[in-house]
Amino acid sequence: MEIIRDYDLTARNTFGMKVHCACLVEYDSVGELEKLYAGHLYDLPKPVLHIGGGSNLLFTKDFPGTVFHSRIRFIDPDFQSTDCCVEVGAGVVFDDFCGWAAENNLWGAENLSYIPGETGAAAVQNIGAYGVEVKDIIYKVKCFDAVTGRIVEFSRDECGYGYRESLFKTDRKGRYVVTSVVFRLHRTPAPVLDYGHIRSAVEEEAGVSGDELLKVLTPGLVRKVITDVRKTKLPEPSETGSAGSFFKNPVVPKSAYDKVVSVARLSLGDNCTVPGYDAGSGFVKIPAAWLIEQCGWKGYIEGNVGVYGKQPLVLVNVTGNASPDEVVALERKIIRSVMEKFDIQLHPEVEHV
Ligand code: EPU
Repeated sequence: MEIIRDYDLTARNTFGMKVHCACLVEYDSVGELEKLYAGHLYDLPKPVLHIGGGSNLLFTKDFPGTVFHSRIRFIDPDFQSTDCCVEVGAGVVFDDFCGWAAENNLWGAENLSYIPGETGAAAVQNIGAYGVEVKDIIYKVKCFDAVTGRIVEFSRDECGYGYRESLFKTDRKGRYVVTSVVFRLHRTPAPVLDYGHIRSAVEEEAGVSGDELLKVLTPGLVRKVITDVRKTKLPEPSETGSAGSFFKNPVVPKSAYDKVVSVARLSLGDNCTVPGYDAGSGFVKIPAAWLIEQCGWKGYIEGNVGVYGKQPLVLVNVTGNASPDEVVALERKIIRSVMEKFDIQLHPEVEHV
């Protein structure tokens, strides 16, 4: 365990906000976490915040309390199970787990390759990409209950997963600290290729298509394609500060979508197509990237912050010197302009601290 006072969090948040916390605690086991809470957190400054890789956070100011970070790192497969169940420590870099799965020829995690962040946070956030959400492969989530001091397990259904939502983000926020996640991966091919142009990119990589594709397809091949796609569309985390998608894709009633179409026709012509995906129960999910682009923000730079040129859903720390105030000011302007033009309310995906 390591306890460091007045800690510089710059390297702990992928957005690169230059903020400090009063204290950082890194623990290496569930036992250490239990001891910390059993001792009523000793004299650690409050409040307490648990972070993973800091890839979905915007620190809006110095944090006055203690930041906890898990270094519980293990990958423990049960190769005897029919589907391969594998328990992964919350502190494992999620992409390392995806790489491990691909190396072991196990299906399910390949579309989630190269998403920044750690396994515990992935289960909290229900991360998703290219037609897969992490809930699709979660079997159960093990947590430390900060209220009772006990270890508890939640089945996937009990986790209350929705689009970037879970029990751990809503009513019980802060109570349950994820310590490990048990995934269920498949031994038989279970490719998910029908998102955007993924199938054609996979066919190109494999050099075959149609029925022949299934014969040569491996999770490793899909992982490579997904990783390449992400590298072309999203900023390289080690080079440009960002927190990935800054906003959620709004899910709106069909009538609101129709209104967007009417507005779009005024500027883009009657034959324009407004992207929208059926979200069930009369709702449509509209790509926020499209709405933001239509408001003219794509590639916009102001001071140290900007809107990524290849994916306007991503706000970037252009110079590395962006302040939280600059990010929040740009966020507000974007939300306001989308509201004014399309009457659609954007909500941040990134957690503001
Ligand atoms: N689009 C534009 N302009 C652009 C880019 C995209 O109009 O410059 C529109 C297009 O209509 C495109 C659509 O947005 O078809 C969807 O774009 P994309 O496939 O890039 O996905 P997204 O909906 O913008 C979501 C996730 C990403 C994930 C991708 C791929 C959210 C908030 N974001 O983005 O997740 O990688 O799908 O599956 O759901 C993240 O959460 O940090 C993240 C990067």
